[in-house]
Amino acid sequence: MNAVEISGVTKAYPDVTDGGEGGMRNVLEAVDLTLGEGERIAVVGPSGSGKSTLLNIMGTLDRPDAGSMKLFGEDYGGADERRLARVRGQEIGFIFQLHHLLPQCSVLENVLVPTLALKPKPDPAGTRERALALLERVGLQDHAGKRPAQLSGGERQRVAVVRALINEPRLLLADEPTGALDEESAAKLTELLVDLNEERKVSVVMVTHDSRLAEKIGKTYRLRHGKLEVA
Ligand SMILES: Nc1ncnc2c1ncn2[C@@H]1O[C@H](COP(=O)(O)OP(=O)(O)OP(=O)(O)O)[C@@H](O)[C@H]1O
Ligand SMILES: [Mg+2]
Repeated sequence: MNAVEISGVTKAYPDVTDGGEGGMRNVLEAVDLTLGEGERIAVVGPSGSGKSTLLNIMGTLDRPDAGSMKLFGEDYGGADERRLARVRGQEIGFIFQLHHLLPQCSVLENVLVPTLALKPKPDPAGTRERALALLERVGLQDHAGKRPAQLSGGERQRVAVVRALINEPRLLLADEPTGALDEESAAKLTELLVDLNEERKVSVVMVTHDSRLAEKIGKTYRLRHGKLEVA
């Protein structure tokens, strides 16, 4: 089974470089991508090349203008918002460049946020146990009661990783997760994603500017002029 199957995906936005003529520009042009379950890939490309657009389409945060998009063998092309929200909440974990942790909540509370939307409601004791085990896995067992402001940048991103994994998704989408980190923390976070992919068989897509980090992930695609090619 494939985690993601994208075929002929096209996405256009209003062209701001045409002097207000009202034209459109294809950010993605007939992009095909297959990601096997348990596979991990990196996506690189210049700023504005459509990396986030592609990731957001894979994550059902955005819809393609044309083409088809399947997740875990199911077509989400014409899916209504309810179906999209369900697959997004249960099967997909997101990590962004900025951690978006809630400043007034503890690390543990932040990690539990994605479980609040689950229906039926999961058993709170089991969820808490899973959160603490994941925090321990990323070396943050002693930080569960702290607030995000009391952590380093790398630690905050590890909290974001745990939050992304709390619902045991089958697909982890990371958009420049190391963008705000120093070199050493960036390398460590990337290695953590590789290890989690191998341990949990969660499929991983990591967008990055840094070709050395892409190399750590392994198979790398490059987006350029709307086309996706193997790098
Ligand atoms: N909602 C939107 N409305 C109009 N244009 C958009 C929108 N979202 C993205 N774009 C345009 O689409 C192009 C691709 O954007 P995208 O964010 O996918 O690039 P990116 O490769 O992620 O860039 P970066 O590396 O800077 O994050 C850019 O030119 C951007 O201005
Ligand atoms: Mg981006």
